[in-house]
Amino acid sequence: MDWEKKLGELESQVSELLAQAQKAEDFFRIKQQFLGKQGEIAGLLRGIREISPELRPIFGQRINQAKQLLEDRIAEASRQAESRQARGGGETQDLTLPGVWNPPGRIHPISQALDEICEILEDLGFQIADGPEIETDFYNFEALNIPKGHPAREMQDSFYIDDEIVLRTQTSPVQIRVMEKQKPPLRIYAPGRVYRRDMDVSHTPMFHQVEGLWVDGGITFSDLKGVLMLFAERLFGEGTPVRFRPSFFPFTEPSAEVDIGCRICRGEGCRVCGNSGWLEILGAGMVHPGLFRRVEYDPAEYTGFAFGLGVERIAMLKFGINDIRLFFENDLHFLKQF
Ligand code: DAH
Repeated sequence: MDWEKKLGELESQVSELLAQAQKAEDFFRIKQQFLGKQGEIAGLLRGIREISPELRPIFGQRINQAKQLLEDRIAEASRQAESRQARGGGETQDLTLPGVWNPPGRIHPISQALDEICEILEDLGFQIADGPEIETDFYNFEALNIPKGHPAREMQDSFYIDDEIVLRTQTSPVQIRVMEKQKPPLRIYAPGRVYRRDMDVSHTPMFHQVEGLWVDGGITFSDLKGVLMLFAERLFGEGTPVRFRPSFFPFTEPSAEVDIGCRICRGEGCRVCGNSGWLEILGAGMVHPGLFRRVEYDPAEYTGFAFGLGVERIAMLKFGINDIRLFFENDLHFLKQF
């Protein structure tokens, strides 16, 4: 083998590779390929046996020279690449250019409404509680006096995972979960997402509710009225008219719906309030004794009230929005207004 020629070839191969190398791992790879244990130079040295003994010292010396040369070249090229990179890839920066501006974000109107609702309830002494969004039939329906066959359990209205598991349709199941774990007195609120198969100007398949529950010895409907009037006035402004209208919920008795005076027409009657002058903001009532028995509270010893409100509905009333779907389209033209 003409090893002089072979060495010349190796040197020019290395030069070519070095010209293209940029990153540390490129240089590492070149070093391995030529100077490593299984590399080209080592390969040549192994060929020393085929060389006549007189020529071996010269051969060895020549290879070692070449090895040193390649080592120096690779080290130098790698050092240069490093300093090029430290200087920003060889390009100089124009420090007089304006910086990149990130426009400030803002809180989503639903979160704004939710934050305000939670703050008022905290001030009224309610403590936050939590429950799963994927709920069992028992907690979402059965334990709340909504037996099999009740219209709210229909496939058209709820998202079922299987026969026994459902995406919760309301935050009311948190009432049961809390009462199972805690003894009275308790005063909790539970904000969260709920799901129903609905989609129009006032319904989306996912929306937010806040549940409230206050249980103690001697809680009366007057307590319910007092708390919810304070709540409505703080949320919608002092002097906001509030009225309680008899209603029905399976898990409260008696039950009521709470309305505030229409903010658009000030009670005169308009399209938004359906000419009634009133807007519904929440449902409420005295906790049904059946719920207490299910969680082993004695209904003779304890009474309580509960309420549940839709956050989107409150936000629509507060901000004067007439289509609930706008909240979820993520159109900045809409969101920037709040
Ligand atoms: N869970 C009811 C719903 O989704 C709202 C509700 C009404 C909650 C009355 C309550 C209540 O706690 O007492 O329509």
